[in-house]
Amino acid sequence: MNHLIVYTHPSPSSFNHAVMETYALELEASNQEVRVRDLYGLGFDPVIRQSDYDTLSGGGMPEDIGTEQGHLRWADVITFIFPIFWAGPPAMLKGYIEKVFSQGFAYAFEGEQPKGLLGGKKAVIINTTGGSLKLYQSSGMLESISRTIDGGVFRFCGMEVLHHRYFTGVTTATADERAQILEEVRRIARSLPS
Ligand SMILES: Cc1cc2nc3c(=O)[nH]c(=O)nc-3n(C[C@H](O)[C@H](O)[C@H](O)COP(=O)(O)O)c2cc1C
Repeated sequence: MNHLIVYTHPSPSSFNHAVMETYALELEASNQEVRVRDLYGLGFDPVIRQSDYDTLSGGGMPEDIGTEQGHLRWADVITFIFPIFWAGPPAMLKGYIEKVFSQGFAYAFEGEQPKGLLGGKKAVIINTTGGSLKLYQSSGMLESISRTIDGGVFRFCGMEVLHHRYFTGVTTATADERAQILEEVRRIARSLPS
């Protein structure tokens, strides 16, 4: 299978980076094809510009959007690894989705009816949070985030969500707890179709 990892974190020394590396290595160890798009590392511009609107509405394709759509086309399974920032994805990833999951590529409308165009592709989402599991259980916030991201973006585009895993309270996790999280990340990678 072709696995695309869309990784979003500003710091290469972050725990999210360790999650991404662990996951990619485990996939490669199972002979899966792996590509990583490190949005900060690439210097991806997450802001939709007027020039993007003009180019897309004129039937053209801005170069950065076309490149990322090419990677998505290639992928069978797309894994998004990111920390929760203000109850959602970091602005960098929000902007990537706004630009790259464009109408005509990721979805279309048949009259009033939306139609996902990424059917057959599978999504895995791995998130870390600063907030504790207790806090999230009492607020129902994780369900809200899942509804928005899994339903509002990926299922809307016809994708099947295989896993949406939250690792909570990561900022205060001990070394042992972090090691357990990375083991769980390896398990998720091994569970994927090959
Ligand atoms: C700008 C910003 C916003 C954040 N918002 C949230 C939030 O809404 N909920 C939460 O649980 N943690 C929040 N956090 C904490 C991050 O999720 C946490 O630092 C991250 O998951 C830890 O992973 P890392 O060590 O790889 O950075 C926020 C952190 C930053 C920097």
